[in-house]
Amino acid sequence: MILVVGGTGRLGRALVPLLVDAGHQVRVMARGASQPFPGTAGGGVELLRGDLASEADCRQAVAGCTAAVFAASGFGVKDSDPRTVDRDGAIRLIRAAADAGVEHMVMMSMHGAAHDGPIDFLRCKAMAEEALRTSGMAWTVIRMGALLEQRLELMTAPLGTKGKVLVFGSGSAPVTYTSVRDAAAIIVRALSDPALRNRVIEWGSQTLTANELAEAVLKRAGHGSVQRIPAAAERVLSVAARPFSPFLARVAKAGIWEESGAIAFESAPARAEFPDIPVTGLRQVLETANLGG
Ligand SMILES: NC(=O)c1ccc[n+]([C@@H]2O[C@H](COP(=O)([O-])OP(=O)(O)OC[C@H]3O[C@@H](n4cnc5c(N)ncnc54)[C@H](OP(=O)(O)O)[C@@H]3O)[C@@H](O)[C@H]2O)c1
Repeated sequence: MILVVGGTGRLGRALVPLLVDAGHQVRVMARGASQPFPGTAGGGVELLRGDLASEADCRQAVAGCTAAVFAASGFGVKDSDPRTVDRDGAIRLIRAAADAGVEHMVMMSMHGAAHDGPIDFLRCKAMAEEALRTSGMAWTVIRMGALLEQRLELMTAPLGTKGKVLVFGSGSAPVTYTSVRDAAAIIVRALSDPALRNRVIEWGSQTLTANELAEAVLKRAGHGSVQRIPAAAERVLSVAARPFSPFLARVAKAGIWEESGAIAFESAPARAEFPDIPVTGLRQVLETANLGG
């Protein structure tokens, strides 16, 4: 049995069917708060409504599992935050899993994760990574870039109603994106390939600027124009929004970090190690994207 915590999220939803196709029994754990919780499970999938904040829920989630994937997050969730989910929730789950005899855990992390990272999310991820590395279980840390589909959702949110594609900051900073399909593929591989045990892998799909993303989106949509959110507005929001919307404040702060170019990394070495995993980049994602819908 493989546990997928956050199995109802963007990545989790893509991962679970791949694991089932690969012959695994899967247990999905999520609260059913930010994402709809499926009413019924398909074959090979068990649904567990649980909260990473609860010790009892974590213990129930890992019981009988040989492996676990941490794909939950509090970053993009309005009623939560990275400290509760990506740090404390992850550490709670890691301890429960190690106690229960889970053999291997895959942790979804981010490029730039570090104890002195410039945003809280990166510091939380670094603490979760460390807890996993010292847990006694076999471990794999997958550091992604920004999730491509999430970014497209954010940029194209006003496209249907206002004909606008949002570009934050200058739009000229390079950002390495990881597509959901690529992230799911490397998790499936990590669960079966010993070469991916006890190591950190930096896993990206394509490096692009926001201006390049916007141009491709507008071309695909056939209508609309760019609306720019200046870097100065992000700086103001990252502080001023804290009291009424910590969510908005951390998204703005992440935007400032992104503007520095630090979210771009060299993904070729890792991709060269797994040449049979095809790269799913912007062109492939846009082919099936429902833009602004
Ligand atoms: N998105 C990115 O750009 C990015 C970049 C680097 C790394 N990552 C990592 O990649 C993974 C997948 O990200 P994603 O964008 O697919 O996430 P997502 O779509 O935001 O989904 C988050 C998932 O976590 C669940 N969750 C949140 N709080 C929870 C809690 N307290 N207990 C149990 N489940 C909880 C959510 O369901 P409920 O809220 O209903 O419980 C949902 O299933 C995460 O670990 C994330 O940190 C993401």
